[in-house]
Amino acid sequence: MNIVGIERIVYGVADLALCTRYLTDWGFHARDSGAWGADFATAEKTTVALRDAGDPSLPKPHHKSAFFQGSCGREVMWGVDTAQTLQRIAAELARDRDVREDSDGTLHSNDAIGNAIAFCVTKRSPVVERPLEFNLVGAPVRINRQAAGAAKGMAAHPLRINHVVYLAPTQAQAQAAKDFYIGRLGFRLSDNVGDHGFFMRPGLSHDHHNLLIECFGSDSIGLQHTAYEFRDLDHIMHRGTYLESQGWSSHVGPGRHTLGSNLTWYFWTPMGGLMELISDMDYVTDEWQPRFIDPKTAGPPIAWTARPNPPGYRFGVPPK
Ligand SMILES: [Fe+2]
Repeated sequence: MNIVGIERIVYGVADLALCTRYLTDWGFHARDSGAWGADFATAEKTTVALRDAGDPSLPKPHHKSAFFQGSCGREVMWGVDTAQTLQRIAAELARDRDVREDSDGTLHSNDAIGNAIAFCVTKRSPVVERPLEFNLVGAPVRINRQAAGAAKGMAAHPLRINHVVYLAPTQAQAQAAKDFYIGRLGFRLSDNVGDHGFFMRPGLSHDHHNLLIECFGSDSIGLQHTAYEFRDLDHIMHRGTYLESQGWSSHVGPGRHTLGSNLTWYFWTPMGGLMELISDMDYVTDEWQPRFIDPKTAGPPIAWTARPNPPGYRFGVPPK
């Protein structure tokens, strides 16, 4: 299946005004808003949608976690290349589950573990960034000019939606979800952590992962975090520093992951769960071989973090 990447993420939220302020502070472009909610766009025109948690048109909440306070992700929409691919997905999913089609052709259904998913022909405008100008020892490229990141208050905006992470209640359910996305929708496995963490990418993506299914135990299900790609480390640091100045709380980072190699900085979101600023993820091709990683010997999947985690820290669990 020729799936390109994430097109849209819909959140049902308890406080629209608060969540609108949050996404505005992230540097999203507000595309449309009203009493019904708001749509925010990345630079490539993929979107994050806020809707009232009680909106009857939303899929039912499918979420349980330590940070759930009435707001959570309600649907992830994947963009595909053509209407023919959309028809193939509809036929494939209709074999064993409900598939609903909107008047504009968008498909709505569920994955193998109850997460609401949707599909549409992509409307994104791919962004092509200028090469970085980074003065390496013996190989300067920026001559007699300051670095862009040296400007105080530099504007940094999310360029595109990169990935989503779902939690499955059991390892068997995590396996079932992995089998669904790979077997039914043509995703590819990029890395496999302890047989309960599956990094995947859809057929037309070269990102190390656009989807991760993990199991943290039966107390955690649903959309755990969503990640947005920024130009470079300067952009992450400018935006993250600004978020903290506005009172939003960091969870982990800034740092760099081991799996996918991406730079990272996680923030708590009033929309439910976490949102992650990322940059510089591994670009993989058909030659990439999935690795099996044993978490007992590999340790936490982070190469470095600028701020040490406090004693008793657990990823995705708010501090007491
Ligand atoms: Fe992530």
